[in-house]
Amino acid sequence: MEKKQSGTGTDTDSVTKNVPFLNRIDLSSPDIHQSVSLLKQACLDSGIFYVINHGISEELMEEVFEQNKKFFGLPLSEKMKVLRNEKHRGYTPLFDEILDPDNQVHGDLKEGYYIGVEVPEDDPKAEKTFYGPNVWPSDDILPGWRHTMEKYHLEALEVARAIARIIALALDLEANFFDKPEILGQPLALFAIAKVWFISCFIWSPGQISDPSNGLYGAGAHTDYGLITLLATDDVYGLQICKDKYAQPQVWEFIAPLKGAFIVNLGDMLERWSNCLFKSTLHRVLGNGQERYSIAYFVEPGYDCLVECLPTCKSEKNPPKFPPVMYGDYLGQRYKDTHIDLNVYNELQS
Ligand code: OGA
Ligand code: NI
Repeated sequence: MEKKQSGTGTDTDSVTKNVPFLNRIDLSSPDIHQSVSLLKQACLDSGIFYVINHGISEELMEEVFEQNKKFFGLPLSEKMKVLRNEKHRGYTPLFDEILDPDNQVHGDLKEGYYIGVEVPEDDPKAEKTFYGPNVWPSDDILPGWRHTMEKYHLEALEVARAIARIIALALDLEANFFDKPEILGQPLALFAIAKVWFISCFIWSPGQISDPSNGLYGAGAHTDYGLITLLATDDVYGLQICKDKYAQPQVWEFIAPLKGAFIVNLGDMLERWSNCLFKSTLHRVLGNGQERYSIAYFVEPGYDCLVECLPTCKSEKNPPKFPPVMYGDYLGQRYKDTHIDLNVYNELQS
């Protein structure tokens, strides 16, 4: 297959030259009209913005990053004990994921760990792909790890809901549009309705340097699949976006880490709901040889959520560009395309 042109913006010099200005949405601001207008502008322009004063304490954020470091610092044999299962929960080793198969020579230069909404094994929902119990490292090895991650999960979900309300207003919908049970649900129903909100904790490996001309990436170019993603990073540069995903050659710009803020990008379902008014953000990560930790909180609709063009985003002149899709089907396909077959590990171990 012919390689797509993968574009510019790979040297560290361009870090300083090529950082776009991003709007900052202040969740503590009482001026909702201003927040809606800043968010809408960002969604129309680049599909990426910062969220500040989100309410998650600095202490909790630091604790999550500390716990991350501890996990990824474990010997590989220990991490392989919590290898991801067929529900996509657990540890994803280096090269396990390949986000841009057309342009990557091998998998992403990253390790990850996926955590989702906890669904007990005996719950009928656990039969569905993506639903089930989480995989946790043992408390003897990483004391407090699970507690920290669960706390983060709940708090990040509240932030996601607050942002989703602003998005709804920006799309001329009722503020609570995305709070529907099949989308972001009611807080107490969280575990019962069981959707897929994965947290993945990544470490971008030291010494692994990306070289796009050779198809080597921290994470290959991709769009995220759901509604939005809340990304927390340390201060190491790496994330890049391409504002116009259909342009050739593609132009890549670094996104500066902002202490205490989330970087929020738009997912494919928002693109479908909004009939491409808000496009999902094409992004990738370049490793520069330094360790880089990030936490991506994927805000996803439920498995059975039928995602179809919003009434406010279509007209006779602007008919729906996508057929309705069941989110679970969409996600299943995307995961198949971007992860190696788990049997590879079974074969390696036998
Ligand atoms: C992702 C992702 C970016 C980063 O997990 O989908 O794009 O900076 N992560 O970790
Ligand atoms: Ni992503």
